[in-house]
Amino acid sequence: MKYFDRPNYSVIVVGAGRGIGRAAADLLASQGVAVGCLDSDGATAQAAAEEIKAGGGRASAGRLDVTEDRAIGPALDAMAKSLGRIDGLINCAGITGNTNIKAHDVDPADFDRVLGINLRGAFMLSKHVLPHMVAQKYGRLLHIASIAGKEGNAGMTAYSASKAGLIGLVKSMAKDYVDRGITINALAPAVIRTPMVDAMPQASQDYMTAKIPMGRCGELEEAAQMIAWIVSPACSFTTGFTFDLSGGRATY
Ligand SMILES: NC(=O)c1ccc[n+]([C@@H]2O[C@H](COP(=O)([O-])OP(=O)(O)OC[C@H]3O[C@@H](n4cnc5c(N)ncnc54)[C@H](O)[C@@H]3O)[C@@H](O)[C@H]2O)c1
Repeated sequence: MKYFDRPNYSVIVVGAGRGIGRAAADLLASQGVAVGCLDSDGATAQAAAEEIKAGGGRASAGRLDVTEDRAIGPALDAMAKSLGRIDGLINCAGITGNTNIKAHDVDPADFDRVLGINLRGAFMLSKHVLPHMVAQKYGRLLHIASIAGKEGNAGMTAYSASKAGLIGLVKSMAKDYVDRGITINALAPAVIRTPMVDAMPQASQDYMTAKIPMGRCGELEEAAQMIAWIVSPACSFTTGFTFDLSGGRATY
């Protein structure tokens, strides 16, 4: 079965420079999807798009930091122009902030930074991409949350709060657009080995990995496959949901 059976299907990936976003961009491109690669690190977004094009795929690139309010609308408009339309947006921009730290030691500035990217950034992206989707009566919006948002990870106060907020954001927004041909979902991975995880203290990595019943981390390919399906036309009867990708840690 072909998931992307529509001509010129176009998906923007925010945080496409590396990690889960990069893997999703590569897989989508291999399925014939035109991919808009955005990242606060513009050089990595450019590199992702160049690699896709070198492999025969279609891609555009740009720099976007999701905390820069005034840049978001223009960046998405430019992508819409370049790709022709925006069928889907996958938001993979996220940071952990300081981890392995108890709540009373959390620096409020770090808390704000994590919430600013993981939650407010997700809201701002949604605010600016939804008008494109409403106009064309179709859209697939996916935010990458985390198992930390469902269960709460020790030592990760800001991160867990930001991802729980993101899950709530998705549930609410989905209801607002449920009759517009637009689905809005989240994905909650456990541990997928990426530069973000590698940068965390070993104690945090061990804590999270030990909680996975399958006894292993998830693979980038496993994340990309689920993401691709969620933003495809085939995933048409699920909205407001947080998909699980946790090797059995969450069964709800
Ligand atoms: N890797 C995991 O185990 C895991 C688990 C659960 C959830 N997640 C979530 O998945 C998403 C992707 O994580 P990853 O592991 O691929 O991380 P990563 O650090 O490898 O990649 C994140 C990308 O987002 C970009 N980014 C960061 N801040 C940004 C900003 N302000 N604006 C735009 N782009 C920005 C980075 O430059 C980077 O390219 C994050 O939201 C993360 O919280 C990851």
